[in-house]
Amino acid sequence: MCGIVGYIGTKKASPILINGLIRLEYRGYDSAGISTIENDGLSVMKDKGRVKNLYNLEGIDDLEGTVGIAHTRWATHGKPSKENSHPHMDNSKTFSCVHNGIIENYNELRNFLTDNGYTFYSQTDTEVVPNLIHYYYSKDTKNDDLKFLRAVKSACNDLKGSFALEIICKEYPDNMIVVRKDSPLVIGKGEDENYISSDIPAILSFTRDFYLLNDLEFALLSRNEAKFFDKDLNPIKKAIKNIEWDASSAEKDGFEDYMLKEIYEQPNAIRETIGAKFNGNSKCEFDELNFSKEYLQSLNKIYIVACGTAMHAGLSARSTIEKLCKIPTEVDIASEFRYRDPLVDEKTLCIFISQSGETADTIAALKLCKEKKAKTLTITNVIGSSITREADYSIYTHAGPEIAVASTKAYTSQVVLLNILAIYFAEILGINSNMILELKKSILELPKKIEETLKVSEKVKDFAKKVYNEKDIFFLGRGIDEVVAREGSLKLKEISYIHSESYAAGELKHGPIALIEKDITVIGIMTDSKLVEKTVSNLQEVITRGAKTMVITNQDIDSSSFEFVINIPSTHTFVSPILSIIPLQLFSYYIAKEKGLDVDKPRNLAKSVTVE
Ligand code: F6R
Repeated sequence: MCGIVGYIGTKKASPILINGLIRLEYRGYDSAGISTIENDGLSVMKDKGRVKNLYNLEGIDDLEGTVGIAHTRWATHGKPSKENSHPHMDNSKTFSCVHNGIIENYNELRNFLTDNGYTFYSQTDTEVVPNLIHYYYSKDTKNDDLKFLRAVKSACNDLKGSFALEIICKEYPDNMIVVRKDSPLVIGKGEDENYISSDIPAILSFTRDFYLLNDLEFALLSRNEAKFFDKDLNPIKKAIKNIEWDASSAEKDGFEDYMLKEIYEQPNAIRETIGAKFNGNSKCEFDELNFSKEYLQSLNKIYIVACGTAMHAGLSARSTIEKLCKIPTEVDIASEFRYRDPLVDEKTLCIFISQSGETADTIAALKLCKEKKAKTLTITNVIGSSITREADYSIYTHAGPEIAVASTKAYTSQVVLLNILAIYFAEILGINSNMILELKKSILELPKKIEETLKVSEKVKDFAKKVYNEKDIFFLGRGIDEVVAREGSLKLKEISYIHSESYAAGELKHGPIALIEKDITVIGIMTDSKLVEKTVSNLQEVITRGAKTMVITNQDIDSSSFEFVINIPSTHTFVSPILSIIPLQLFSYYIAKEKGLDVDKPRNLAKSVTVE
């Protein structure tokens, strides 16, 4: 996640840009910068640290330009530093560019440009963009109004991955070009001015009229005009969308609640989390880790320790680590782990998962493992959070801020990142298997499949409307689906206050089936072809006793005896929780809405649990 802002108009650009960045700082805050068109060419001012540091940069007040671009960064490629901060320029300093997203084929493009005489000064993926634009620009012999646009379009043809780009050019001082693909960007229309931003709220105080770009549509902006082009540069017309949101619904992007917004943000959260570590063509990369083959071979055990939903993410990924890397892996609740004198030593790798990075029990468990000489690695969503200051290694999910108390996009991002980490370990260990290739392919397909899964929303809502008055709801699953049953049950409890339990489907007949009576609601999750028949039999046992059932499956099953069947796309079993949890997130959301509850702030709960 990064935030971008732009301005082209008649006012001094720099204060508008910095003000916009401050509002976008939730999207990243490890470095910031702005670039404006001045009388003597392009200026770039940037630094490591928070946006407010820009105010202290020498000469920032002297910028007079009325056209400019700006960026606040959340590091993906290259550590937080001045060199890696945006904006980035091409070698000839003709173009300046800011980027949100991930250029997956940047290595390939960097090699191509290096072979053509270009030099790189940062470790970012973004720096290829202005240089690639320059490459095409310098080859174009036609000097007309559209030369700048043609160069940007040719460069975009070569980019794989996700991007929202703003580009200015010293030879076109009255223009700016913006384009997006799978990363957010909106254009706000003012009087003789245009504003650009990663989200609407950041510029809502300037305008309520917006142009929304689809993937690979280009906008050629001047002060009093916005011209739009499709991916082949055919001119297209865009209607203005008037946004009537108040400030708070603007922050929710028009969604009724943060939780729903965050559920719908999952395709992008997963896209960004994958893109930061893995581009599909190569090995998974974790520059921040330096684990050797010898170290991984020396491990007796991996412990994954966390609380609540984060612990469920650990459980979801345990099989991947064990099956790919052949390292025994245990998952534990932080508050239990620390009091049972766990067998941890230098031959144990301890992984701690925490969305907030502030959970007291998880941090205390980490400290205990450090005392016992284990290496500690944390997975968190918040750069600079307390846990990152304690751990030997920190890696980040790129889910963006999660505001609703019930965790949704952080969970699915944790599951995908743990799977990528398992592949990374296996690759260091020199394990080459078809399983890795299949898993990598499935991971890359996830964002599109999440989009597909979200389409079940209305059907799930219908079931929620039928059962929202229930007192008890049960969740059943086997194998990986048992973990999803636990997470689905937790989501339901925390926001709907309905009592719910999850069981391993096979355990039912060892006790819990005594609770099943007429009209009780039971939800079954079935995504593993090897286990589906057994779970179907367990569900038949509850149907015989009068239960109402909703089934979530990617298998071809005889659905006649189930009341509701939610079909989801199939994927590799290791990552199936990322898809199968989505209907359950929506289920608990719609039940809570039917009951008129505050979805984002459920009673008795807090987003960060900083007490033990
Ligand atoms: C449930 C939920 C909690 C958290 C748990 C750990 O929706 O959000 O169960 O997962 O409190 O929090 P973090 O991940 O911040 O350590």
